[in-house]
Amino acid sequence: MRQDALLDNPGTADSLENKSKHISAVQQKFEAIFGDSPEFIVSAPGRVNLIGEHTDYNDGYVFPVAIDKYINIAVRERADRRIVLHALDVNESTELNLDALHPIPTDAPNWSYYLIGVASLLQASGNEISGMDAVISGDVPIGAGLSSSAALSVSAALAFVSSSKLTLSLNTGASEERKKEFAALCQRVEHEFVGVNCGIMDQTISLLGRADHGLFLDCRSLEYEHVPLNLDAHCIAISNTKVKRELAASEYNKRRAECERGVDILKQWIPSISSLRDISITDFEKYEGKLPTLTQKRCRYVIEENTRVLNAVSTLKARNQQPTEKIDNSLLTFGRLMNASHKGLRDDYEVSCSELNLLTDIARSVDGVIGTRMTGAGFGGCTVSIVHRDALETFHTRVMAEYQKQTDIEPEIYICNVSSGAQIFPN
Ligand code: GLA
Repeated sequence: MRQDALLDNPGTADSLENKSKHISAVQQKFEAIFGDSPEFIVSAPGRVNLIGEHTDYNDGYVFPVAIDKYINIAVRERADRRIVLHALDVNESTELNLDALHPIPTDAPNWSYYLIGVASLLQASGNEISGMDAVISGDVPIGAGLSSSAALSVSAALAFVSSSKLTLSLNTGASEERKKEFAALCQRVEHEFVGVNCGIMDQTISLLGRADHGLFLDCRSLEYEHVPLNLDAHCIAISNTKVKRELAASEYNKRRAECERGVDILKQWIPSISSLRDISITDFEKYEGKLPTLTQKRCRYVIEENTRVLNAVSTLKARNQQPTEKIDNSLLTFGRLMNASHKGLRDDYEVSCSELNLLTDIARSVDGVIGTRMTGAGFGGCTVSIVHRDALETFHTRVMAEYQKQTDIEPEIYICNVSSGAQIFPN
């Protein structure tokens, strides 16, 4: 048993129960395929972002939580250079060689790109990694805006470094820095192997999440604070539109380019800025008329969203210190900021879609829903709502019935616990 490999991230009782179900599934499958037990199992959560959307790649602020949905990988080190992988949920196997990852083998399935990317980047930065046998499985819905891909690359990174005995610093004082390095490496996998110029939020929360806390992250300095959520009688409900637009990746990259263009133009008058994070709305309003209309809208959204995150986080922090009678008002403020975030994403940033708008409209019609918005990159995927426990049943019934009636699609609803970040379980 490898005691040194454990990360110090306890989860809630519910999330641990759910996790152990999935962990035993990968473990059993590993034993069935490889005829031996795995050495350890790594587990990385998906995330839902409460507020701060499309701000991460603009050097801004985000406030995501890790959820109790995970990608798990059961792993055993091999003595040779082969990587033998089985993806349980799609029932697909593939075999790779650590010395033949470039160019990506033509028969490599898409999901294996994340492992290929992680292995390639680890090796390129001088890490000696070993071959491994691995079984992968998870319950983060794929392509639903809950960061299944970040959870896959994070768990892959931990699998490689663990099987190659490179984990030593993970549970020492240096571990936070090490986790940030992993997050950056996994972000590069998206950029260089998948083609999405994503920000740093998803990988960071998957590594640094804490049970019952939101992660207030400054995406420029990477400084962060775990803020207690204390939602009391409220819970986090995620509703899945079950739609996914093929254009999502290219539209995402386009938004990023539009923001950069805005900064370049604004620099003529405010040379000190290097990202939208550096401009107050008052300064922006002095010059916005000089920007092309579309650029104006994109920039305005990002600048306003950064302010919303700061307000949302300070509201929650103040609430944690307030006498109980003021609590509901603070939570209502948090909810209003979520609603305003959705409006900006819909009207100015234009990354929502009719299905996401419909889900937020239905949610808002339920008494006891204090805020709701699309979450993640958009163009389909999920909404996140803060719902009073007493209203959950009505919420469930109405969202399921109304959404299906108007779209002919059966949505899914997940009531999520806020979980801890990635962990390694020695077997
Ligand atoms: C995706 C990206 C993140 C972030 C969100 C939008 O999840 O991976 O980096 O930009 O979209 O907030």
